[in-house]
Amino acid sequence: MKRVLSGIQPTGEIHIGNWLGAIVNYVELGRKLGREALYCIVDYHAMTNPLAYEKELLAQRTFEAALVNIAAGLDPEKVTLFVQSHVPEHTELSWVFTNITPVGDLQRMTQYKDKAAKLESVGAGLLMYPVLQAADILIYKADTVPVGEDQIQHLELSREIARRFNTLFGETFPEPTAYLNPDAPRVPGIDGKAKMSKSTGNTIGLLEDPQSVWEKIRLLPDDPARIRLADPGDPERSVVFKFLPYFAPKEMVEVLKEEHRRAGIGTLAIKQILFDQYMKATRPIRERAEWLRQNPEYVLDGLEDGARRARQIAQATMQEVREKIGLLRLE
Ligand code: TYM
Repeated sequence: MKRVLSGIQPTGEIHIGNWLGAIVNYVELGRKLGREALYCIVDYHAMTNPLAYEKELLAQRTFEAALVNIAAGLDPEKVTLFVQSHVPEHTELSWVFTNITPVGDLQRMTQYKDKAAKLESVGAGLLMYPVLQAADILIYKADTVPVGEDQIQHLELSREIARRFNTLFGETFPEPTAYLNPDAPRVPGIDGKAKMSKSTGNTIGLLEDPQSVWEKIRLLPDDPARIRLADPGDPERSVVFKFLPYFAPKEMVEVLKEEHRRAGIGTLAIKQILFDQYMKATRPIRERAEWLRQNPEYVLDGLEDGARRARQIAQATMQEVREKIGLLRLE
């Protein structure tokens, strides 16, 4: 692993799926690699879905996404944290890539199909979404991409784009691979079924108001066969037990599973434990977020610095790409 890049959309509140599936790995890899770990708030991607994009909110959401990542443990003085639109070479490279990407490949992307199905009119940007994502990664020649499982298909397309470019124009890009969190590749929503996602509205926010989180945890479905307190349960059929291992130590989960099986503990008591463990895990992040809200210049300075560093790499790659694809140069 030489260089890491990942991106997160500023489309609303960052949820525990984003955190467990991706951000915890940003932090871990950032500690290992320092500046060679690049993390990008992908504001141009946030424009591709009209159901999620709001002009008045984009700047604030971009700031908030950066703030949450820093609060979660990314150190902007060590890693490179920046905003996609501050490095315009991403969109420039993505145009080059659109020419070597078959439209059919893009139409087959499941995320495209899901999102397009909900829209009356589909913008071309939504179809091109994974091409811009490939540019985000390849402009830094990153070989490792921490993401959730839902991004595997986009990553495969990035690899194909890299291969095709290398074949047509000479060896330039590595083929990047996904880096998953084995403990949380796909965090379910609070219904326990669909993937947790902002667009489905089945999320628990990383910094959500505790009262509102408790309301959601209180309503998590337990094993449907368990009606009375004295009924034995099957933890495998309980959504509460899907979430518990994300926050509670292994031994505690095992003990509670056993208690659940022999009806030794009520559902509400387990939910209370889940809530306490969630709060324990997120409290330090909440405290840092509070501090950052009082000190917004720390976030903004970090982003400015990050964009400067990212741009140096991106400009060098674009220079190389312009030469390889045969553009007229004046100097
Ligand atoms: P976004 O903002 O939708 O998601 C950010 C990250 O969170 C992961 N994730 C999940 N992981 C586990 N369980 C879940 N329920 C869950 N929901 C979301 C996503 O996999 C992602 O890693 N297309 C990217 C943004 C992007 C990008 C890039 C990523 C743009 N350019 C370049 C990597 C490299 C996305 O889905 O963002």
